[in-house]
Amino acid sequence: MCGIIGYTGEKSGLDIVLQGLEALEYRGYDSAGLAVIENGEGKVFKQVGRVAGLRQVVNGQELAAHLAIGHTRWATHGRVTIQNAHPQVNSEQTIFVVHNGIIENFGELRDKLVANGYTFISETDTEVVPNLIDFYLKQLDSFKAAFEAALNDIHGAYSIVAISAHDPETLYAARLSSPLVIGVGENENFLASDPSAIIEHTKKVIYLEDYDVAVITKSDVKIHNLKQNTTPEPKVELIDYDNEEALLGDFPNFMFKEITETPAAIRSASLGRALADKNLVKLGGLESVIGQLKYIDRIVIVAMGTSYYAGLVGEYLIEELAGIPVEVQLASEFNYRNEPFSRSTALLAISQSGETADTIAALKKVEDYGVLRLGIVNAVGSTIARMTDAGVYCHAGPEKAVASTKAFIAQVTVLMLIALNLSKGRSKRFKPLLEELDVLPAKAQAILDQVENIKNIAEKYADYRDFLFIGRHNSFPAALEGALKLKEISYMHAEGYAAGEMKHGPLAMIDENFPTFAIATNSPLLDKTLSNIQEIRARKGPVVALATEGNESIKELCDDVIYIPNTEPETQPILQVIAMQLFAYYIAMKRGYDVDRPRNLAKSVTVE
Ligand code: F6R
Repeated sequence: MCGIIGYTGEKSGLDIVLQGLEALEYRGYDSAGLAVIENGEGKVFKQVGRVAGLRQVVNGQELAAHLAIGHTRWATHGRVTIQNAHPQVNSEQTIFVVHNGIIENFGELRDKLVANGYTFISETDTEVVPNLIDFYLKQLDSFKAAFEAALNDIHGAYSIVAISAHDPETLYAARLSSPLVIGVGENENFLASDPSAIIEHTKKVIYLEDYDVAVITKSDVKIHNLKQNTTPEPKVELIDYDNEEALLGDFPNFMFKEITETPAAIRSASLGRALADKNLVKLGGLESVIGQLKYIDRIVIVAMGTSYYAGLVGEYLIEELAGIPVEVQLASEFNYRNEPFSRSTALLAISQSGETADTIAALKKVEDYGVLRLGIVNAVGSTIARMTDAGVYCHAGPEKAVASTKAFIAQVTVLMLIALNLSKGRSKRFKPLLEELDVLPAKAQAILDQVENIKNIAEKYADYRDFLFIGRHNSFPAALEGALKLKEISYMHAEGYAAGEMKHGPLAMIDENFPTFAIATNSPLLDKTLSNIQEIRARKGPVVALATEGNESIKELCDDVIYIPNTEPETQPILQVIAMQLFAYYIAMKRGYDVDRPRNLAKSVTVE
């Protein structure tokens, strides 16, 4: 979603901000803009579409500005226009603001400002911010005081960065429920909504907390917490982020690159944790809460999208391996339910980005319940990683394509490790699964080695309008994820169903124009799924089956078969989903879409 970058120092603010905006592109956006302060004057450049277009607008400008802010906007309030792009400016063109999040009371604030003679030219909620700062600046003695007074009036979720034409060195920043990180350099400082925008310059960061207001010059960072009225000492942390991993290299796009990284994702998620030789699962991130975990008799998993489907796979794993009842809820639904919640229930949040607004809200909802809050997060240092009591990182590395691929694989791997860890070695499946995790990356690689075959099959189905994905038991959430992947990158209507549901409704849709992707890998339930396939074929529905290597007879029953290596029942969803990611990828490529940036979607969904 929206991205923020800011710079104060001795270098060209313009260059640094443009580079930062390029690094933020993966988050998804529809317009971009920047502002610099030079010779007591602010200059704003904006463009609808890509940052490359903004570069062209800026091209040829000789600007030595040392203070700059930039923004990529994913439209929420107002259409995708130059006027609505950020930075937003006050009526007098002296205060420049970029903002992520939503200002809920912007209508009321706007009416108050209009009554005081302010004019508005955009449809955004953000435009009230520079005007409100201006309003208070006319009454108060400093920009900081005016900035804080404006923040006190604002309700909603935000990360805001403001600069003033009269102050060519200072970035003013504030955060509430939307991430903002300060990058600390030598004689320069940075601000970003996401460390990837500044990692090229520094690995030293200060994470802002809710209600923090920061005043940043090239040599100094001062923080004031508005809620507690304290001035916390800025805590500098080193981030562990491999920038090389975030580069495209020779790959055609990030989605394909990240699918090819799934074997590595399984390996990194298990490294040093799944110790088959010692018959041990070691999860350092949970050690501090071992005592509390003993008393947990129910786990509620909260997540959104692909992470939610990983949670559904986790439900089977934790219930069957550790014997603890699990309920998986969409965080957006959990947040508005009034369910009984006892202290022996743990809340487990799953998130790739660690910044998903609904999932953060779910963790906040139980803040006062005194329950254990756990996390499975990929982005190191993200909000969810920092607000949970304990957790396990996925270690999948940066994921740039909007559609999640390797992160799902890492999430399910981590869920398996947590399930084994909670089983405390009692499960008979402990040893076989630890041994299987050792060989699983090679099995994942074997799927990647047959991309040509998957591509040929996928392309045959690229012109259909609809697709059904079916599976049973833990292949059911895999089917849901297969359908999500296809719909989000190919814009083809796709639905996931439990195969047992077919006769209860979905079968009505089946005819020669409605193909089914049937997960029919080895399992005690295989015969039942084969019966479902027979019923679909009897109604002329085309069927692509996902089967286990060696099952030759299934070819008689289906139009096409994609094979995956044999694996343990618990690890099947991992291999199934890799094959379905490739299937969706090749359909989308054949249809000519930008797989990394599907329309209307953003990588990090930081608003509800
Ligand atoms: C789909 C996808 C999304 C995310 C969802 C949650 O491919 O990526 O459905 O899974 O927006 O995001 P995180 O995991 O960052 O909380």
